[in-house]
Amino acid sequence: MSMGALRLMTLGQTCTASVSRHARVGWSSLNVRALGSSNVRRNDFLTTPIFYVNAVPHIGHLYSALIADCAHRWQRISGAEGTIFSTGTDEHGLKVQQAASLAGKEPLEFCDKVSQEFRRLFNSSYIQYTDYIRTTEKRHHTAVNTFWTTLQDNGFIYKGEYEGWYSTSDETFLSSQQVEDGIGKDGSKVKVSVETGNAVEWTSETNYMFKLSDFSTPLLEWLDKNPRAVYPPKFNNMVRQWVQDGLQDLSVSRQRDRLQWGIPVPGDSSQTIYVWLDALVNYLTVSGFPGQTKLWPATHIVGKDILKFHAIYWPAFLMAAGLSPPKSIVCHSHWTMGNFKMSKSRGNVVDPFDRLKTYTPDGLRFFLLREGVLHSDGDYTDEKILKLLNSELADTFGNLLSRVTGKALNPSQVFPKCHAELFPWQQSSQLASGRATAEDYALVSAVSLLPDSVDSHYNNFEAYKSLDEIMSCLRQANAFIQRHEPWYLIKNKDQEPWLETVLYVAMETLRICGILMQPVIPEMAERLLCRLGVEESDRTLKDLECFQGMQRVIESRPLGEDTGVLFSRLQFKNRR
Ligand code: ME8
Ligand code: MG
Repeated sequence: MSMGALRLMTLGQTCTASVSRHARVGWSSLNVRALGSSNVRRNDFLTTPIFYVNAVPHIGHLYSALIADCAHRWQRISGAEGTIFSTGTDEHGLKVQQAASLAGKEPLEFCDKVSQEFRRLFNSSYIQYTDYIRTTEKRHHTAVNTFWTTLQDNGFIYKGEYEGWYSTSDETFLSSQQVEDGIGKDGSKVKVSVETGNAVEWTSETNYMFKLSDFSTPLLEWLDKNPRAVYPPKFNNMVRQWVQDGLQDLSVSRQRDRLQWGIPVPGDSSQTIYVWLDALVNYLTVSGFPGQTKLWPATHIVGKDILKFHAIYWPAFLMAAGLSPPKSIVCHSHWTMGNFKMSKSRGNVVDPFDRLKTYTPDGLRFFLLREGVLHSDGDYTDEKILKLLNSELADTFGNLLSRVTGKALNPSQVFPKCHAELFPWQQSSQLASGRATAEDYALVSAVSLLPDSVDSHYNNFEAYKSLDEIMSCLRQANAFIQRHEPWYLIKNKDQEPWLETVLYVAMETLRICGILMQPVIPEMAERLLCRLGVEESDRTLKDLECFQGMQRVIESRPLGEDTGVLFSRLQFKNRR
């Protein structure tokens, strides 16, 4: 795999094709699509979880960031400006304190190093966040202090004797129903969390408590009034059930002698603020709290392991502070390895840096977004990636581009002209001269319907549905080429108008699919659109009209430079 070629073209670089803007003649204004109008749901503040720095990132963390990045890129393509997309690292708490001490490092020095690894991963994967927040930053400290004081002033915090189980790995308190007997790492008998299997220990101390039990009714009202409060429905039902099962008050601080690595409780330095309260406030810090709350409330993308914290604790904290609860919590399932959740604690993780090298950033993005569904877990195997990338990116997408732009079929190197008499747009008004078959009309119709449907999938954070439909169109376009055998058409001068029309239809399909795939494979989409001679300013929602009377203004424009194959086939290593 030649990474050299990929590196050459950085994101956002203007393409080499010089294409002058044409007057949009021949379009019916009636045909301008309604996309981008106010009926399109749009999130303007998107967040990923902030990740613990107890260990380096794995594929699971990258996946959450990709879901957010894809949705955010789509918003930008749809014309949204001034959006916020935040990610970052969660650096306080017992878990990080212990990891730093195990590494023999000062906590902050340890956090700096690991946080930088997350940032490096996101940068190398083309994650275009607008803010990278670290909970050790001063702005965050200020936000947490103000938030705590507000909760206290509003009467939702009281001091109490707390007893219960604590899982450091999950940074959470558990009731006796939530723990069971298990086996520790050294083979000894221990108590573990029923949900995660992580070891727990008995804790008994004086803590500050949050009156979570006051919030059952407000939370249910919030869920009732906002069907999108938690999405998809499977997780919405889970949250509703948890609330209905009853909520107990929550311990929101630890004794300083047990936990030093955290923000002290304002006015009581013998206590440290619970890491989850500290961490959740990061979203407000990003919005400028306490000075302002830009674009609040936000949409939070989270894994199902932390749904309870985001869909119960967080809205309750916000309501208690007099702020709006989240706009939406989008919850995704897990990547597993051999059917166990990929996790740092378990150690069954896939190194994303290594896979970025093997598959390229776009290849890895494509796989994770194509295979990842929100409602159920996906098992990761390298064999699956390799097969998928070869069949879809190389053999279907790349192959179609090479075919229609190659000098063999396209010696003049233009986006060819469509001859409407050979492929009249309205099938019913088909002229005697028309040569298009029913299958050809099916292709054109599928491509025309694509933008609306893909738009709604991206807005629902379901890229896999978009990609499913896009790939289906690309497969149909390859079959279309196969059916009309342009390699024979080119041998006969009389067939030139039909050859041009065939190439036009295939290229128009590629142009639409290329624009629509930008959020998933930004670098490949960029190369494709450059090769097709599509200007950077013509790659947005407004450019998705296609086949208009088969007279798209782009026709007869010169193609851009040939920068080689779009995606090189990968070879199976270690074949058994
Ligand atoms: O929980 N599959 O951080 P964390 C898919 N700091 N996604 C996965 C995954 C997997 N196998 N493993 C992890 C924390 N993730 C807190 C969050 S937010 C205010 C504080 C992703 O490092 C997924 O998004 O344990 C999951 O929710 C998150 O990483 C947990 O990361
Ligand atoms: Mg975790």
